Amino acid sequence: MTKAWMKSDWRAKPRVQMPDYPDTSALHAVEVQLAKYPPLVFAGEARRLKKALAQAGEGKAFLLQGGDCAESFAEFSADNIRDTFRVMLQMAVVLTYAAKVPVIKVGRMAGQFAKPRSAPTEVIGGVEYPSYRGDIINGFDTTPEARQPDPSRMLQAYTQAAATLNLLRAFSTGGFADIHRVHSWTLGFAEHDKAERYREVSNRISDALDFMNAAGINSDTAHSLATVDFYTSHEALLLEYEEALCRVDSLTGQNVAGSGHMIWIGDRTRQTDGAHVEFCRGVLNPIGLKCGPSTSVEDLKVLMAKLNPDNEPGRLTLIARFGAGKVGENLPRLIRAVQAEGAKVVWSCDPMHGNTIKSPSGYKTRAFDSVLREVREFFDIHKAEGTIPGGVHFEMTGKDVTECTGGLRAVTDEDLSSRYHTACDPRLNASQALELAFLVAEELSSQRSLDRRVAL
Ligand code: PEP
Ligand code: CO
Repeated sequence: MTKAWMKSDWRAKPRVQMPDYPDTSALHAVEVQLAKYPPLVFAGEARRLKKALAQAGEGKAFLLQGGDCAESFAEFSADNIRDTFRVMLQMAVVLTYAAKVPVIKVGRMAGQFAKPRSAPTEVIGGVEYPSYRGDIINGFDTTPEARQPDPSRMLQAYTQAAATLNLLRAFSTGGFADIHRVHSWTLGFAEHDKAERYREVSNRISDALDFMNAAGINSDTAHSLATVDFYTSHEALLLEYEEALCRVDSLTGQNVAGSGHMIWIGDRTRQTDGAHVEFCRGVLNPIGLKCGPSTSVEDLKVLMAKLNPDNEPGRLTLIARFGAGKVGENLPRLIRAVQAEGAKVVWSCDPMHGNTIKSPSGYKTRAFDSVLREVREFFDIHKAEGTIPGGVHFEMTGKDVTECTGGLRAVTDEDLSSRYHTACDPRLNASQALELAFLVAEELSSQRSLDRRVAL
């Protein structure tokens, strides 16, 4: 008989992208403390998300996953959470209206703190420092002390995640997300072309709601109009944190990652025999797997077998992140491998991580045109292969930042310095995020009319 999975098994596997804590007894004390804290999410919620994702795999729902590249302790505020939540709701309205299927809303929120880095150290002003690895691990300031990994940061991250989730739950069910407020979600956004298009969509939704109200269906009679399901997700990078929040579901005896509803494995940590795959394979949550240009067909097959041995629909989301212009040479071979295995997956598109560049002014940025282009290529290839584009994955914020160039209210290279606030990668601002939602909506509605023609 094979030995049952244990939440600490990853410790015997090769690990990458994780810090070496200098004070192991301090680390142990934090782990013991975290293990006593309540989980942030519950098994039933993770299962519900998995069911919803199973629908996305069949084209009967669509996944919208988005939020910060890295949440930060300094930027933590109710306004920031509200603004990201609101722009996600707006995007979801646009997508639902076009696709005519439910949109599954998953935030990169309430746990997205740890970052993989391209090098363990960086040179700033001629001095070499350990790289910043996210607020859950070390500090952003360029001093040797700040860059030292500090386990007590896990406790602060847990507290921030708990408070974030508390507010998200309140927004989701406490009236803010009632579809009758669809117009009010525009408040706070500057006037621009997309705001006008959003208003048109919301007017039509209001008309439909008036009609339903006349027929006796409103927020009092239909709970689903007054509330939304909103889920959380993050990269399961810091495995000490993940293990400490892993719990046994009393109903089924299965293990659940209590740190967030969905967790994903990054492009740099998906070694088939590595620590991250080992941890993720044992928990019941929906799992995301980033697929980049270096993902081989052979590795993908092994990973699918390890992460979803029972081929359970909704369990595995493959998040394609190749870069504009590189989708054509990479996605078809992976799609064909999935088809050949008969594997049930959700295909999602992350048009951010393959499109990061250094701008002439020195900022890490992404050109909005490249982001749009990768989304289009993703949809085109699924159309050509006859497979289902099930979702999108963005780094975005509800704030009016200047981190990605381009978009309707063209952010220029010179603008980048004015409101560049990200703790890690450049995010779409609210206007760019909405613009992208309209593009995805167009792709989805053209696919829908294609499907209808095929069905006739
Ligand atoms: C991320 O999603 O923030 C990330 C680091 O992505 P990837 O692993 O795809 O590079
Ligand atoms: Co990122």
